[in-house]
Order: sequence, then structure tokens, then C-alpha cells
Amino acid sequence: MKILGISGSSRKEEISGVYKLVQTVLENTGIEYEHISLRGKKIGGCIACLGCAKDNICKLSDDMSELRDKIVNADAYVIGAPNYYSMLNALTHAFMERWFQFRHQEGDTLWGKLGVAIGVGGMDGIFPANDIEKFFLYSFIETVAKVNGQGAASCYSCGYGETCGVGVPQMLYGKDIKITAEIIPDVSKQPEVMAKAVNAGKLLGNRLTDGHNRKVVTQNMQQKMMAMLKSSV
Ligand SMILES: Cc1cc2nc3c(=O)[nH]c(=O)nc-3n(C[C@H](O)[C@H](O)[C@H](O)COP(=O)(O)O)c2cc1C
Repeated sequence: MKILGISGSSRKEEISGVYKLVQTVLENTGIEYEHISLRGKKIGGCIACLGCAKDNICKLSDDMSELRDKIVNADAYVIGAPNYYSMLNALTHAFMERWFQFRHQEGDTLWGKLGVAIGVGGMDGIFPANDIEKFFLYSFIETVAKVNGQGAASCYSCGYGETCGVGVPQMLYGKDIKITAEIIPDVSKQPEVMAKAVNAGKLLGNRLTDGHNRKVVTQNMQQKMMAMLKSSV
């Protein structure tokens, strides 16, 4: 049994809130895992060429190719993304868009698997967490937990954070803000967020080892999907 963890942040692992939360969830599952950062990877969005329609294998040639087998072989996913413009960032979006390759004919490679969705934002990470949950649903993957926290917006380290009128520091603390280590948000300093990540990992581990039935999960997710589509028309 194996879990695939994906951090969709382009920032260095040491400063990425997404990376920290994905790692915390993975460590608490008690199950073998692999944690891959998308940082530096070149992954384009789906171009709707339908090259995958016959065999569920994407024919685009970029860094997504090396990840395909890992996605297929994993029993569950822990995926995190930063909040960019109240959405998940483009890199994680492109990565998840390319899961279209699994949605043809039988298309049940991913059905009934389990996932944890993680989001981090300069204000909050709920939007990307919700977006990842929606991507999971399209593959009939159940989101067993969502974790969202506040990370350090780049405005704290860009060099203009104290004087910039449109940056996060002034937005949160007003014009006279002095940037110190204490005010820079960090998910590890948010006990409730870290506790949520620990619990999400434990829950995912328990669900996987406690008679996980992919058929039942698939049926539940298909119903959820139908309800979502009906409510949106
Ligand atoms: C292009 C861009 C857009 C952003 N938009 C938002 C936003 O709309 N809301 C928000 O809360 N944070 C926003 N942020 C801040 C990031 O979400 C924040 O830096 C977060 O910590 C990134 O996660 P990471 O630390 O794992 O890279 C934005 C950052 C960038 C670079």
C-alpha cells in the first residue's frame, strides 16, 4: 500500500507552507508514502488532443510523463496547493487537469481511491483545498479530509512589504507595519492547523487499513457527482 503526496507550490520546500502540511499529513498516515514537489517541474495544461482516449495514456511530453505511473500505483493521494487569486495555482491546476487521461472508456484507474486536500494562502487556503476536492470528485476519489492554513505571502520577503500599499502586510496590519519574524505567518505556528493535518493523516491511514472498499466509495462519489451536476444547472 502506498500514498502519493504532491506539493504544488513553486517555492522552496523549506519555506513552503503547502510542503509542510503535505509532509505532516503523510507522516501521520503510518503507511509508506512518496512526497513529490512540483517545484521546477514543467507541466502544461490538457490541450484536449484526445490522444489519451484509446489507452488512457497522455501523449504530451513534459514532466507529467514521469508522474503517471506513480499516480496509477498509489492507493491514495495527499495533494496541496497554494492560493493564487482565490484559486489553486496554475501548476497544480495543470497537474490535476492532466488526470483527464484517466477518464476514458472503463476509466476506473482512480475510482474509489482516497485523498486529502490541502490549501495554504497568504490569507487562507480554503479555496485551493476546495478546488482539489472538486478535481478528486471528477475521478470518484473521496476526500476524507481537508486542511487549510495561512502561509507567508511573498510580500513579507520581497523587500517592499512595509511600504507597498497593495501587499499583504499593509492589508493585514495597516500602514505602520514593521515586518518581524513574529508576524510572518507560518503553518507550524498554527496549532489548530497542525492538529488538523495530524488528524487528517491518521484518518487517511485508518481508512486505508480498515477494509477500504473502492467499489462502495466509487458508488458514493458517483452519487455526489450527480448531485453536484444537477445542482449546478
Ligand atoms: C500570484 C500570487 C497570487 C496570490 N494570491 C493570493 C490570494 O488570492 N489569496 C491569498 O490568501 N494568498 C495569495 N497569495 C499568497 C500565497 O497563497 C501564499 O504565499 C502561500 O503561503 C503560498 O503557499 P506556499 O508557502 O506553500 O508557497 C498569492 C501569491 C502569489 C504568488
